[in-house]
Amino acid sequence: MSVKEIIAELFIAESQIPEAFRLEKELHQSEYLCNGQMKPWNGDRHTVLSPICIKTANGLERKVIGSYPICGQKEADEALEAAVKAYDNGRGEWPTISVADRIACVEHFTHEIIEQKNLVVKLLMWEIGKSHADSVKEFDRTIEYIYATIDSLKELDRQSSRFEIEQGIVAQIRRSPLGVVLCMGPFNYPLNETFTTLIPALIMGNTLLFKPPKHGTLLHYPLLEAFKKCFPKGVINTIYGRGSTIVPKLMQSGQINVLTLIGSSKVADELKKMHPKVNRLRAILGLDAKNAAIITAKADLKLAIQETVLGALSFNGQRCTALKIVFVHRSLVDEFLKGLTEAVAQLKIGLPWDQGVALTPLPEPNKPVYLKECIADAEAHGAKVVNPGGGESLESFVYPAIVYPVNDKMKLYTEEQFGPIIPVAAFDELEEPIQYLINSTHGQQVSIFSQDKDELAHLIDPLVNQVSRVNINCQCQRGPDVFPFTGRKDSAEGTLSVFDAIRSFSIRSLVATKLNDSNKHLLNEIVDSHSSNFLSTKYLF
Ligand code: G3H
Repeated sequence: MSVKEIIAELFIAESQIPEAFRLEKELHQSEYLCNGQMKPWNGDRHTVLSPICIKTANGLERKVIGSYPICGQKEADEALEAAVKAYDNGRGEWPTISVADRIACVEHFTHEIIEQKNLVVKLLMWEIGKSHADSVKEFDRTIEYIYATIDSLKELDRQSSRFEIEQGIVAQIRRSPLGVVLCMGPFNYPLNETFTTLIPALIMGNTLLFKPPKHGTLLHYPLLEAFKKCFPKGVINTIYGRGSTIVPKLMQSGQINVLTLIGSSKVADELKKMHPKVNRLRAILGLDAKNAAIITAKADLKLAIQETVLGALSFNGQRCTALKIVFVHRSLVDEFLKGLTEAVAQLKIGLPWDQGVALTPLPEPNKPVYLKECIADAEAHGAKVVNPGGGESLESFVYPAIVYPVNDKMKLYTEEQFGPIIPVAAFDELEEPIQYLINSTHGQQVSIFSQDKDELAHLIDPLVNQVSRVNINCQCQRGPDVFPFTGRKDSAEGTLSVFDAIRSFSIRSLVATKLNDSNKHLLNEIVDSHSSNFLSTKYLF
């Protein structure tokens, strides 16, 4: 069967949806969490259309899976007020309770959300078209991340549970919260990436405004009760609605202390500039990337092809870490394109619940049109789609296109396509891809493929100063989550990892005094009476 014929059979009728993956009912969210209460919402709603189309009498239609509130400025202001009040200039219950108590709340929350796993996994599949296997992986990885964060914070707290004496000054140094955090996650990892900022921010004692991503909102609905139950009121508040309408005023209020966003650098830049006192705003951002693969003449071609497929097409290329352009030494390019074409043809097209599926429908309604534009633009500048069926689409599904030869006149050379296109360029001298990285506005990661130690060493040294992770003979990726995840230029601000995130969302504070008998006595009395949560030598097991 041709790609066109396979795609034509992709979508099924309502009655053919496997029982195990059906949503029991449409999920219409008519409430939102603010100041410890689920507040009713009777205003406008956003209808959630799945990327999965259904065959109907009227042709293919995106399945309606539910709706969520489109709140306005009033609700956003209320949420901000609740978070500001819960923080209470650092005097609120949450920023002042002990680390052990905050950990207990997060543990309680984790037990509660594990109960919701099946529903959240199904919603991931229906809302963003992620395969069942990857949706389960996203949920499990999130839970592991929370537990690892707890362990990391315990370790940090243990190190801080002692006094330090230097030059006649005794001090206890701990990390304190920063204030009110505005947290916005991306659609491609709506649970995992949101929680890799939200959980560290929470556990460090900050209070939050949480705006779920446009695609991937409903899957957070089953978790709201757990937020409400496990944290003091006002510590976590949800905001819904059009970001461009409600977020500017929040930033302009000057009451947001931390902006954490996994999304576009353009949006992040605009939002930061809206804060009246930029020096008071900390930003922890995971932004755009255009990670390149460099396949040298000395590469193991089979391995390079295998990793390119994984790197460029996992979750249909919708990963910030995806390989978004591939530079291949001219001597290998024909063989590479042949092998890549064969490897792409092996990938299974299907719906998220299909066993072994690799390519699924895309959640962003405008993405198929944008990808077509990218391909047409490349063709207009001399490239071709080299794989059979490349770029064929039906509604929300786009079949991967290998586009060659890509040059600097094309959108695909610089734009982050965030979809199933693999742009390939040939090079003669290694200096060419190095110059590409130097001139790129992005600086997240690179993958280099070579079996020659000298060649690798010659590339590693300049490239670690261009990007934040150099991957050797493997695709780019964020994990393991204990490794630092960041980027240069327009790709990130701040560093995330289990270890780094708890530091990113806090600041060091210390209590210090001159070491004399009177002060020694006072400190001992405070510690012995357990009257301060900060000045304490309690050891967290
Ligand atoms: O969208 C970007 C994600 O951080 C990528 O994570 O490399 O584990 O897929 P990943």
